Amino acid sequence: MQKRSQKTNSLTSLILDVKNEALAQIMDAKKADELENLRIAYLGRNGKLTKLIKEIKDLPAEDKKQAGRLINEAKNTVLETISSQKNTFKEAAREWFDATIPGEKPNVGHLHLVTQAIEEISDTFKKIGFVRVRYPEVEWDWFAFESLNIPKGHPARDDWETFFIDTPPNSKYGRVCLTPHTSSGQVREMERVKNPPIRMINIAKCYRRQLDVSHTQMFHQFEGLVVDKGISIIHLKGTLDYFARNFFGKDRKTRLRPHHFQFTEPSFEVDISCGVCKGKGCKLCKEGWLELGGSGMVHPTVLKNGGIDPNKYTGFAFGWGVERTFMMKSGLEMGDIRLLYGTDLKFLTQF
Ligand code: DAH
Repeated sequence: MQKRSQKTNSLTSLILDVKNEALAQIMDAKKADELENLRIAYLGRNGKLTKLIKEIKDLPAEDKKQAGRLINEAKNTVLETISSQKNTFKEAAREWFDATIPGEKPNVGHLHLVTQAIEEISDTFKKIGFVRVRYPEVEWDWFAFESLNIPKGHPARDDWETFFIDTPPNSKYGRVCLTPHTSSGQVREMERVKNPPIRMINIAKCYRRQLDVSHTQMFHQFEGLVVDKGISIIHLKGTLDYFARNFFGKDRKTRLRPHHFQFTEPSFEVDISCGVCKGKGCKLCKEGWLELGGSGMVHPTVLKNGGIDPNKYTGFAFGWGVERTFMMKSGLEMGDIRLLYGTDLKFLTQF
């Protein structure tokens, strides 16, 4: 057994003391920068352990190796303990949170108000047996106008301010356009169903060359069409009153005013009793009624164009704007209808 010198023994116990002292201080440290100071104090250029390394050279040759190993082990233990304490601080910083801070509300989206209106309108009509259909937004002149008794060059066409598409016309259907109204679905539906009864609700995007506070170039309409044996104005009026009660409120009524459309005979404008004054007359409505849209009994020429015999069948139709109907229901007075199609969330999230 090797006998170690006095010098070796005292250096060995010094190394162990310094190491233990360092570890105790590391465990007591409260912050990461205290740990860094300790690293410098023990392992820096003039650190306590570093100084002991220098003393190895004065030991007897046979003790140097063992003392060197001991001091290396002390150094590594100190470094490892520092780094594991640093990680503990990091974890703690990450996990700490103030449970008293009010939570952030997650952004919950909802359907656009026009989509909500479309769903409500179609649900209301589905309850009385109407079938929701969709017809093309890019349409032929034939379905948009001609089949509806509006021949080429007819002055009534001016009302629809149509976008025509610059492509060669089809020999049967004419030019291509963006459909300016949902009435374009009438003859399409007659062709689809072939044999009445027909109970259609067509809700779709429509396009017209108009843009101001009360018009957008793209908007939505809904179109009702009923064709069967013995259909009369009574059925039209009953359906409109049903819609008024169920969509706008129990005490609302409709009234028909004579008008002219090429595709209905007779034709009417549909008014709804004012929800504010209940029909007495007020600032909003003037005479107690608000205008909703057009309607009438399907013109025999339109039935013929859809392959239906007007001597056997009759029908009624109505059609008007989704946006306007929605605004009338919610009592919204929208200074600028274009807001509906803008991206201002302050406006859109209100509904
Ligand atoms: N399509 C017409 C428009 O856009 C509205 C309309 C009027 C639809 C009378 C109809 C109707 O079904 O019978 O102005």
